[in-house]
Amino acid sequence: MNAVEGRGLRKRYGELVAVDGIDFDVRERECFGFLGPNGAGKTTTMKMIYGLASVEEGSLRVLGMDASRERRAIKSRIGVVPQTTNLDWELSARENLEMQARYHGLPADGRVEDLLRMARLERRGDSKPRELSGGMQRRLLIARALVNEPDLIVLDEPATGLDPQARLAVWATLDQLKRSGVTLILTTHYMEEAERICDRLAIMDDGRIVSEGSPAELRERHGQDTLEGVFLEITGRSLRE
Ligand SMILES: Nc1ncnc2c1ncn2[C@@H]1O[C@H](COP(=O)(O)OP(=O)(O)OP(=O)(O)O)[C@@H](O)[C@H]1O
Ligand SMILES: [Mg+2]
Repeated sequence: MNAVEGRGLRKRYGELVAVDGIDFDVRERECFGFLGPNGAGKTTTMKMIYGLASVEEGSLRVLGMDASRERRAIKSRIGVVPQTTNLDWELSARENLEMQARYHGLPADGRVEDLLRMARLERRGDSKPRELSGGMQRRLLIARALVNEPDLIVLDEPATGLDPQARLAVWATLDQLKRSGVTLILTTHYMEEAERICDRLAIMDDGRIVSEGSPAELRERHGQDTLEGVFLEITGRSLRE
């Protein structure tokens, strides 16, 4: 079984077609990436997967369930790291994790301390998000996504806006998660992230998937040494605007 299957998936906002009929499969236990420039439709696709945006057309199955009809059941089995931080600013790091445990109807106790340790925030449990660095906030968001021991973790630009060192720390966490056997889906602008972390990629542009495969397959298929070159070859544009 695939972890996620999208068929003819489409989403409009008024006149604007954000996702224009895409087909993709995310295999179990792989790290699948959506790579593309601003406005390509990556976040919209992710939101349909984690149930924040409705599926307008086509079909989307997540962990064997229908994304339109079984949102609640899907939410209990996935972890989400959204593109914009949605931590509760009034609560401490620890309380943010406890709140998520309550949301899932799970006991907080040991789980929360384990996750603080995993995020290397064991000494910052009492800090409010605003007192944490950007990298620490991102690690807290990832920890929060793990509270329900999800089978699938969806991360929208997990490393964007971080300094190189914080980015490496996030990538190390993602490597660790991959080894633990969960399925990961992430979006990124970073070639290096796509190349290092993703087993397979869908390159998106203007609401469509323009090429798909492992980083090596994509480079070979398009006769390029780098993913940046692949993107340029396909779209005639640079991924970095
Ligand atoms: N809630 C919304 N209402 C109206 N238009 C939207 C909404 N969300 C996204 N869009 C539009 O849909 C298109 C795709 O946006 P989306 O956020 O999916 O892109 P993205 O690939 O995630 O971009 P970025 O790399 O900047 O995060 C854009 O043109 C955007 O303006
Ligand atoms: Mg986005």
